[in-house]
Amino acid sequence: MFGRIDHIGVAVEDLDAAIALYGESFEMELAHRETVESQGVEAVLLDVGEGHVELLRPLGPDTAVGKFLAKNGPGLHHVAYAVDDIDATLPRLTAAGIRLIDEQPRVGIRDSRVAFLHPRSTDGVLTEIVEPAGGH
Ligand code: CO
Repeated sequence: MFGRIDHIGVAVEDLDAAIALYGESFEMELAHRETVESQGVEAVLLDVGEGHVELLRPLGPDTAVGKFLAKNGPGLHHVAYAVDDIDATLPRLTAAGIRLIDEQPRVGIRDSRVAFLHPRSTDGVLTEIVEPAGGH
C-alpha cells in the first residue's frame, strides 16, 4: 500500500536554527520552503536519500503544530508514507479500521495531496499519507 517513507515531520520553534542543524550539521540539502496555510505551518523540506525531513514551524498557537509544541515542545511530529493514489488508499485504510483525521485529501507541501490518520488508531504515531504532485 505504501511505496516508501516520504518524510518525517519535525515540529520546531526556531526554523532557522533547525535549518542550521539539518542543513549544516547533518549536511542535508535544503530542497523547498513554503508556507502551507491549510496546515498552519511554514515548512522546509531537506533531502535525505529519496526521502525528506520536513521541518514545521507553526503560524500561530492555535494551529495543530502550535498546540503540539505547547504541549510537547519541539520534536518528532509525524511520519509520512508515499502512495500513488490517495483516493484509492483512504477507503482501504477506512475499511481496515483506521480512523482518518482527513476524510478527504487536502493540499500539502509542493502541491502534494495529503491526509492524516488519527494516532489513536496507529499506535500513537501521527501518520500522514502523501500523494506527491505528479503521482510519484
Ligand atoms: Co508532513
